[in-house]
Amino acid sequence: MTDNPIVETLQAPSAVFFIFGATGDLASRKLFPAIYSLYREGKLAEDFAVIGVARRPRTNEEFRDNVHESIDEFCRYKIQPGEDWNKFAQHFEYKSLDINNVDGFRELREQTEGLEQKFSIPGNRLFFLALAPELFGSVSLNLREGGMMDGQGWNRLVIEKPFGYDLESARKLNTELAQVFAEDEIFRIDHYLGKEMVQNIEVIRFGNAFFEPLWNNQHIANVQITLSETVGVEERGGYYDHSGALRDMGQNHMLQMLAMIAMEPPSRLLPEDIHDEKVKVLRSLRPYLTAEEVDKNVVRAQYTAGSAKGKELPGYREEDKVDPESNTETYFSARVFVDNFRWAGVPFYIRTGKRLPVKTTEIIVEFKRTPTNVYLGQRHNLEPNLLVIRVNPMEGIYIKINAKKPGSDSEIQPLAMEFCQSCMIGINSPEAYERLLEDAAQGDSTYFTRWDEVAAAWSFIDHIDHAWKQHPSDVKSYPAGSWGPEETHQLLQQDGFHWWPVNGQDEDNVIWQANSR
Ligand code: BG6
Repeated sequence: MTDNPIVETLQAPSAVFFIFGATGDLASRKLFPAIYSLYREGKLAEDFAVIGVARRPRTNEEFRDNVHESIDEFCRYKIQPGEDWNKFAQHFEYKSLDINNVDGFRELREQTEGLEQKFSIPGNRLFFLALAPELFGSVSLNLREGGMMDGQGWNRLVIEKPFGYDLESARKLNTELAQVFAEDEIFRIDHYLGKEMVQNIEVIRFGNAFFEPLWNNQHIANVQITLSETVGVEERGGYYDHSGALRDMGQNHMLQMLAMIAMEPPSRLLPEDIHDEKVKVLRSLRPYLTAEEVDKNVVRAQYTAGSAKGKELPGYREEDKVDPESNTETYFSARVFVDNFRWAGVPFYIRTGKRLPVKTTEIIVEFKRTPTNVYLGQRHNLEPNLLVIRVNPMEGIYIKINAKKPGSDSEIQPLAMEFCQSCMIGINSPEAYERLLEDAAQGDSTYFTRWDEVAAAWSFIDHIDHAWKQHPSDVKSYPAGSWGPEETHQLLQQDGFHWWPVNGQDEDNVIWQANSR
């Protein structure tokens, strides 16, 4: 007997996967390709079934054609010419359903039982709601009322962000879900937790003797987390204008990455122990209680018209479905403190924005400088050591160190020791949704967010939002295609630091990387 509830099998247990919102973007871009990749890698039991649920009428054949198209376009595996497509496709069925009508759920139950019989599935049901969050509560209730939870196996609910709009609405949603599902049956997705390099943070920190002893305020000067995007709001203006960067990226992806960097080693590698450590970090975030504190530590901005790579780009207020007088932020940066013994006094700088010059997610840990009054430090302006974790789209790790310039007695140059995961031939990192679907089917909640984490993150974010609401028009601007407003640099300059260039950013970075080869 092991006390680890996660059964390390290669294949996920046999189950019916319900994709609510089966005709939507998420299903076709991410979910169907993820299911196919898991199938190709032998990680799905042969006896699985998928029921696509949406309002639109569609036959099973039409639905299977949609799945085929989505795999062709978005999957990292391609369907082979001689492959028996039907062997895979026969596991897929479609159900047209009005989610407010319980009778539809009763019909769905019959259809499910038919499939469970056909494929000998022991009643395990995974409900993935790729739907607007307002619908999560009523769909959950109707799942229960329609008898969908009465199978012989387990029931699990997988839901997308955003989980609420603020702490109050998140609480309300959680209460609704809790009427139907237990906490350990709810899998809240933060797709950043499904990314290989985010999962790697734990291993880098706790699996290497030369990081963990230095991982504290004695040796680390600051941590910088950048999540920059080149895209604007595309066709999501309606959603984004009510959300903004703080809610869309800050409350979830950025604070989750921060928690992974800052958490204490868990006592055991069980999901609950990891969640316990993360929630302690989130509860230790120093709240900014006054508008002055928020102004001092948080910068918000919105992009105006600009250009990138010779292409003219519209301003945010000109985007489709965006209020032409909108004050919604498309960029924010913040200085965040984790008020505990390990991190006292160490600033964590976080920034994210739309329409920035490059798409990249990077975590940079800047170590304290060596003493300047002894030996080399007296004669040279030594650069600090950096540990750079590249999350997305390049995956890898850099360590920046100082070394003697070859052939010179007195010159010291920074160089990078690099592990480029994306450059390795034969390594094809699974997409986040593959990991997450597989984990949910295995019942492993490690890389999902627990309710108390979500609540702690909202409580930190809500203070900022309240302060912003007092001065709604006090939002800075930056031209599309630039690195954000000037104030974001001042945030670090005030502390004697600067943003380190991220992958693809500028000349300096290129030279620094070239030095490493
Ligand atoms: C989503 C946000 O959660 O993450 C989007 O809602 C954002 O606005 C996206 O574009 C970024 O994810 P990734 O994996 O492309 O970096």
